[in-house]
Amino acid sequence: METPSRTKIIHLLKRTDFGTTVLVKGWVRTRRGSKNISFIALNDGSTINNIQIVVNMNAFSEEELKPITTGACIAVTGTLSQSQGQGQDAEIQAQKIHIYGQADSLAYPLQKKGHTMEFLREKAHLRPRTNTFGAIFRIRHHMAIAIHTFFHERGFFYVHTPIITGSDCEGAGQLFQVTTLNLYNLPKNESNEIDYANDFFGKQTGLTVSGQLEGELAALGLGAIYTFGPTFRAENSNTPRHLAEFWMIEPEVAFNEIEENMQLAEDFIKYCIQWALDHCMDDITFLSERFDKELIDRLRFVLKQNFIRLSYSQGINILETAVNNGHIFEYPIFWGADLAAEHERYLVEEHFQCPVILTDYPKEIKSFYMKQNDDGKTVRAMDVLFPKIGEIIGGSQREDDYDKLTTRANEMNVPSKDIWWYLETRRFGTAPHSGFGLGFERLLLFVTGMANIRDVIPFPRTPNNAEF
Ligand code: 4AD
Ligand code: MG
Repeated sequence: METPSRTKIIHLLKRTDFGTTVLVKGWVRTRRGSKNISFIALNDGSTINNIQIVVNMNAFSEEELKPITTGACIAVTGTLSQSQGQGQDAEIQAQKIHIYGQADSLAYPLQKKGHTMEFLREKAHLRPRTNTFGAIFRIRHHMAIAIHTFFHERGFFYVHTPIITGSDCEGAGQLFQVTTLNLYNLPKNESNEIDYANDFFGKQTGLTVSGQLEGELAALGLGAIYTFGPTFRAENSNTPRHLAEFWMIEPEVAFNEIEENMQLAEDFIKYCIQWALDHCMDDITFLSERFDKELIDRLRFVLKQNFIRLSYSQGINILETAVNNGHIFEYPIFWGADLAAEHERYLVEEHFQCPVILTDYPKEIKSFYMKQNDDGKTVRAMDVLFPKIGEIIGGSQREDDYDKLTTRANEMNVPSKDIWWYLETRRFGTAPHSGFGLGFERLLLFVTGMANIRDVIPFPRTPNNAEF
C-alpha cells in the first residue's frame, strides 16, 4: 500500500470521499473503548475539533495500544469513513499506527479537563496542546492577519521601528536597560556616575516602550504608516491587564486631526472584531461555552454601536455625579486625576453601556508630544475605553509646533539631546498628524473573553516571571 501524504485534521473533517486511505498526525486527547473497539480522539492544532480514530481490536493488540495515552504523538494511516456517532464528521478506521512519542500517563501533567488557568500558566510549554490555548493562539494569529490586512487595504505602510532605543517615548521611566557593561565593575567618570561611553552603543540604551516617535518620522514622509511589534515596560503593576512585554500596533497618519484619528481607531477595532467573527467562529464558540457565555453577544454588540465620544471633563462630571449619588470608587476622582480602570469601566459598562472615546485630557497626566489645546490646560489626547477591558487604545493628535513641543519636553524633563531628531521634524516641513497605539493583548482579551492578559500571549513576562 502506498502511503498517502499527510492531511491536516481541519481538512479531513470536511471531506466526504469516504473509502480513501489517508494519513493523519497529531496528539492524543483521549482514548477510550472496550475489548473489541477503541476510540482515539486526535488533534493536530489545525482546528479545535478532533478527528476520531476507530481501532478495531481484531487488527491491533492490547500491547500495541497501551502506549497510546493522552498526550502521546502518533501517525495514523487508515480509511476515511463516515462517522456513526453524532454529527456527520469524517472519522478514520485505523490500518496502521506509528508512535512518535509516548507521554507517560503518570508524569504527563495535562491529564484531565478543567485544569485551572493558574496551573496551565506553570505549564506554558505544554499548554498549546490544550483546547483552550489552541483556540486562543489560533485567534491571536488571525487577529495579526486582520491587522495587517486592514492597514494594507488602506494604503498604510508597515514600518519596523527599533527595539533598542536611547529615548523613553512615554517619559514614564519604565525602560528596561540594555547594556554590555560589566555589572560587577562599572566604569565611572570623575563625578562618580556610570560612564556609558564604554557601553556597547556609547550611550545609555533600553528596550523601547513604544515605536511612536520613529513611527512619526516615517509618517512625515510616507504619509500613513503602522508599526506592529513588541514593546517593553518595567512597570511593577501586577494586574490582569498589564504585561512587561506586550505587542503594540501604532498607526500614524500625516494630515489627520483628532476626529479622523478617532474614526480610524473605531473602524480599525470593528474590522478586527468582524474578522474574528468571520474567521474564528469555532474557537470563539468553544471559548464562549467554556468561559464566557456572553462573549459572542458582546462582540456583535460592539460592532453595532457608534462609540460615544466625550471629553475628559465631561467624563469627570459623570463620575463625580456618580459619587454624589452614592457610588463608591476605590480611588478618588476629581478633575486632574488619572482615571483608574474602575472609572473607565463605570463610564463604559454602567453609564453609557457602550465603548467610549475620551478626549482632551489634562496635559499633566499625558505625554509631552500631545498637541496642546488653546485652553492651556488640556491636550488633544484620545483613549478608547472598552467593556471588561478599560483602556484598549491610547493616542493623540501630535504637537506639530516646534517651540511648543520643545518647551513641553523641557517642562516634562524629556532630554532634548535624546530626541533632537524627533524635534527636527517640526523644524523642517512640519504637518498636522495623529496616531494611536492598540495593545494587541488587550484586543485579544476582548475577542477571546479571557480574564487575564497572561493567557492571551504564549509566554507572558510579568514581575518575577520570565520562565520559558
Ligand atoms: O497608552 P499607551 O501608553 O500609548 C503609547 O504608548 C503611545 N505611544 C501610543 C501611540 O499614540 N502611538 O499605550 C497604548 C496601548 C494602551 O492603550 C494599552 O492597550 C496597551 O498599549 N498597553 C499595555 N498592554 C499590556 N501591558 C501593558 N503594560 C500596557 N501598557 C499599555
Ligand atoms: Mg495610555
